[in-house]
Amino acid sequence: MNTEKLKNRFYELYGEGEATVFFSPSRINIIGEHTDYNGGFVMPGAIEMGTYGVARKRVDNVLKMVSENFELKVETTVENMVYENRHGWANYVKGVIHELGVSGYKTGGMEILVNGNIPIGAGLSSSASLELLVGEMVNCLFNEGRIDRLEMIKLCQNAENHFIGVMCGIMDQFAIGMGRKDKCILLDCDTQVHEYIDFCMDEHVLVIMNTNKRRKLNESKYNERRAQCEEALEEIRKYKDIKNLCQLSTVEFEECAMYIGDPGRRNRARHVVYENERVKKAAAALKSGEIEVLGELINKSHESLRDLYEVTGPDLDSIVEAATGCAGCIGARMTGAGFGGCAIAIVQADRVDDFIRHVSDEYLDRTGYRADFYITGIGDGTRVIA
Ligand code: GLA
Repeated sequence: MNTEKLKNRFYELYGEGEATVFFSPSRINIIGEHTDYNGGFVMPGAIEMGTYGVARKRVDNVLKMVSENFELKVETTVENMVYENRHGWANYVKGVIHELGVSGYKTGGMEILVNGNIPIGAGLSSSASLELLVGEMVNCLFNEGRIDRLEMIKLCQNAENHFIGVMCGIMDQFAIGMGRKDKCILLDCDTQVHEYIDFCMDEHVLVIMNTNKRRKLNESKYNERRAQCEEALEEIRKYKDIKNLCQLSTVEFEECAMYIGDPGRRNRARHVVYENERVKKAAAALKSGEIEVLGELINKSHESLRDLYEVTGPDLDSIVEAATGCAGCIGARMTGAGFGGCAIAIVQADRVDDFIRHVSDEYLDRTGYRADFYITGIGDGTRVIA
């Protein structure tokens, strides 16, 4: 991204004067899907693609928001931080300002220009990227950088839950806010205790594969899946004192699976418990450099998301099957919420070109869609860049 150009565009829109440039990454999740809102482990990382933004404080309470990714420009005042359909993408900005405001942080009028280089609605968490970007703008411009990062992450998650209405867990906002170059984060979503694990693979490359099947989280079955997990938990709790599904080992789960009345719901819970175990094994494999073991766990994760959690669909399945059928692919799976969007693959570095060619052809053949591929490193979290 040419940030000078972005700044010049900002000056054209709002006039000359001091302005600050921010960057907020997107995220991928190596493993641990749909475990975050069940008190389990996840293993995401921030990536080097994301959302750039330029911002400046105003003396009044007017909020001007322009994005180079959308036609829609929105102007309102900070007194009017309520969700409005017609405000489209700007609702994410408003949601974060609202949450910060009600939590007692200073907010005020701003001029904002944003430009993201991530595909929107592709499961790489463009929304959490924007949320943290705005959080950091308000932090720097109005609060002297004093807002605690974890607090900001939670407020951004609140904005998504209560302002936007998607009952997401903490994973995306955490990965984006706490990302570190060349590390993935092993996060216990129940306690937020986390550990950074090296993710610099010399002989392998992380490839992001976009099915180009757009996913809209709030219209999808995401909230429904979460509700099913909550119901399963309630059924188990009648017999066993647990706080969340991920407290169960796989053995314990099988002992009380019969308490879950509905077979579909039982499958959802089974995925969650086994996926949580896979994250722990994956972290151990990554630490000891057992990349093949990691690959195997990644493949298993996809199968479980397909068969038990049922969040993949023909496009994600096709791209993942094309990938795993390809020489040099160590493992592949969908990443993020599912229902379309992106998958990831770990591929031998010297075979990446062939891999992309093969997956691209096979996916087009099978679905009629053209896939996109991104090779981007794991990067740092949300920050001021100039
Ligand atoms: C979305 C949500 C996350 C998480 C994943 C699935 O990305 O925002 O909180 O639940 O789906 O693992």
